[in-house]
Amino acid sequence: MTMIELVLSGFFMTCVYANGVADVVLSCALVEEGVGLGGMGGGSLFTRTPATLVLRDVAVAPDESLEALTPFVPPSIPDPDAILFEAKVSSPDIPDAAVLLHADCNEQEVMCEISRYSPRGSQDSSEPTYFMVSLNVEGVDFSTALILQTLTLERDQSTLIQNKLNLPLSQSGTLLTEVIFLVFSHVKSVSAPLRGDVLLNCGFKQPDTPLAQELDIEWRLQHRGKGRKVLEMKTRLDDVEGTTVMHADRRGSSMDAAQVVGEGNASVTLNKLKVMDEGTYICTVSVGVFHAQQVIQLHVIQPPQVTLSEEKLVLETSPQTLSCHCSKYYPLDSQMEWLSLSPTDTEPIVLKDQVSLSSHRQHGDGSYSLSSHLTVPSDISPGTKIICKVSHPALDAPLSVSVLAESPEPASYWWVLGFLIITVLFFYQVMR
Ligand SMILES: *[C@@H]1O[C@H](CO)[C@@H](O)[C@H](O)[C@H]1NC(C)=O
Repeated sequence: MTMIELVLSGFFMTCVYANGVADVVLSCALVEEGVGLGGMGGGSLFTRTPATLVLRDVAVAPDESLEALTPFVPPSIPDPDAILFEAKVSSPDIPDAAVLLHADCNEQEVMCEISRYSPRGSQDSSEPTYFMVSLNVEGVDFSTALILQTLTLERDQSTLIQNKLNLPLSQSGTLLTEVIFLVFSHVKSVSAPLRGDVLLNCGFKQPDTPLAQELDIEWRLQHRGKGRKVLEMKTRLDDVEGTTVMHADRRGSSMDAAQVVGEGNASVTLNKLKVMDEGTYICTVSVGVFHAQQVIQLHVIQPPQVTLSEEKLVLETSPQTLSCHCSKYYPLDSQMEWLSLSPTDTEPIVLKDQVSLSSHRQHGDGSYSLSSHLTVPSDISPGTKIICKVSHPALDAPLSVSVLAESPEPASYWWVLGFLIITVLFFYQVMR
């Protein structure tokens, strides 16, 4: 990588890199299960130690000039107490890694946690050593789990050993690693309507020479403390045709086996969503002894249908009731409000008194209905609009339905009409 220009402007360093690659320096936490800490309770304790992760050679769009706060310069005097991971990320590359570069400028927080990782069935002491890195950017749909493998270094007397991790450091005082496997998602949270379809995104990447032949993708749903399997696919990369087994525990869930094997796209499609599909989905991709996960929230949302009990409101002396029905929505939190807007008002007035709510009714599909009843105030003047306004998370803006209060028809009109009908009926009888 060649840095062709370095300009110091204000507090920012503007770095323009050639070859479309850049370094990303992230502040992380090394998370370890607390061993021998004074804690008495049974809960597991975790210690967090500040660490730095330098991602080398992150691919960026050509001609993109980057403003990074801290271009990476290794410390001049290597420090065996510092935890400084250095990882090359050209193969496999991190999808959308440019998000990490821009996060600093956009003041988005990057959450980076590093922990030790043991491949299935491995002895802890064996070399190389592995670490799991989980990366998330606040407010951005970027989430990746990386597995780092330490590079074997030739040791001599001058080799420094990292104090905490007991691992040899490079000349520049970094723990040299490479990314060998990663699982990522373009979404953290998805909302979809009842009976609709949804795609939950999950992908993985491994080096050009696959880590192993066995590939296993599992989707699970976790909700209110209960977990269940949604879909599982097992295959062998050297004999995809002969070995692929797909098992859908949830009916109407599917994965495209060709996309899984060909593109590392392990996204799942769920058809005809029900309320019980809501929850936290976990996509676990295992390649041989390595596995990593992504977590996606699925929210089922269904906007209410709002109707009024009357199409016409004729003001009478006796009290009248208007009902506003809000039906088949999900989730439960909806708000209903009555307003009146007379021709002389500029702003609608909230009608708080004489309002009563029915209790929620739940339908077979899990959706809810609710009605609000208003006893129409006696002082309402003709021409006033009575509005029922409903707010719900599935609605971008509140929904309103209204009816116009009309003055009663003059009584004589009814007499004339009644007389006419009787006359017509009479003649009809006579003529037969
Ligand atoms: C997987 O494929 C779907 C389309 O079939 C696409 O929308 C999605 O972005 C892909 N996901 C990944 C991780 O490549």
